[in-house]
Amino acid sequence: MAGRVIAIDGPAASGKSSVSRGVASAFGWLFVSSGHLYRAVAWGALRDGFSHDPSHSLIDWIAMRQLTLLEDEDPAKGVSLLLDGENATPHLSKPEVAAKVSLIAAVPAVRDFINARLRSLSETHDLVMEGRDIGSVVFPETPWKFYLDASPEERARRRAKEGAVDSVAERDRLDSTRATSPLTIPPGATVIDTTHLDLQQVIAAVLSHLDSLTVTTTRSAQ
Ligand code: CDP
Repeated sequence: MAGRVIAIDGPAASGKSSVSRGVASAFGWLFVSSGHLYRAVAWGALRDGFSHDPSHSLIDWIAMRQLTLLEDEDPAKGVSLLLDGENATPHLSKPEVAAKVSLIAAVPAVRDFINARLRSLSETHDLVMEGRDIGSVVFPETPWKFYLDASPEERARRRAKEGAVDSVAERDRLDSTRATSPLTIPPGATVIDTTHLDLQQVIAAVLSHLDSLTVTTTRSAQ
């Protein structure tokens, strides 16, 4: 990890993506949704016919995949993903991908494949990265860790407002109970309950914690 990493973890629809984008924009660092990489792989696995009991056959399959990350000019917009040269972006929010991604993300070979890419990005970039295990497993050494939460009702409401068909509760159950890298509050993380906070309030809370942790060097004027 040559670059610096701000790790933002939490359950589905806790506000991680929007908050992480806001923080990335305040610092001029690259925003990365690790969930997008899991969704891109889940889309590819469905495309290639892995809809049932993926664990064994996925090991060989994932070894043959090429996942390319393309940076936008604006680092806070994040990266576009190509899987085997094909643009995965239009497929990431599809209901069938949301329905299968947690099963596919539970496979250790898939996690190793994605973690290697996430870690290699940090060799060349300062990152604001969001996910489920960023502070606990991918970058446990970073001093800047957050865990965003919100009540299950509020999270289901936020997802429905986005117009998404998504069983947030079921994904939470699978993500929290899997054997490898389950969703957990990383030791030392700052926990923020966003249930009654709007986006700007959460971004302000994160930035104020970061100021007190002295991540101020490259922060642009707001
Ligand atoms: O945006 P939302 O919180 O709904 O989900 P996401 O961040 O796009 O992640 C989709 C799924 O990928 C999660 O439900 C997890 O199963 C998996 N994931 C993971 O296992 N580890 C991560 N670091 C990020 C996502």
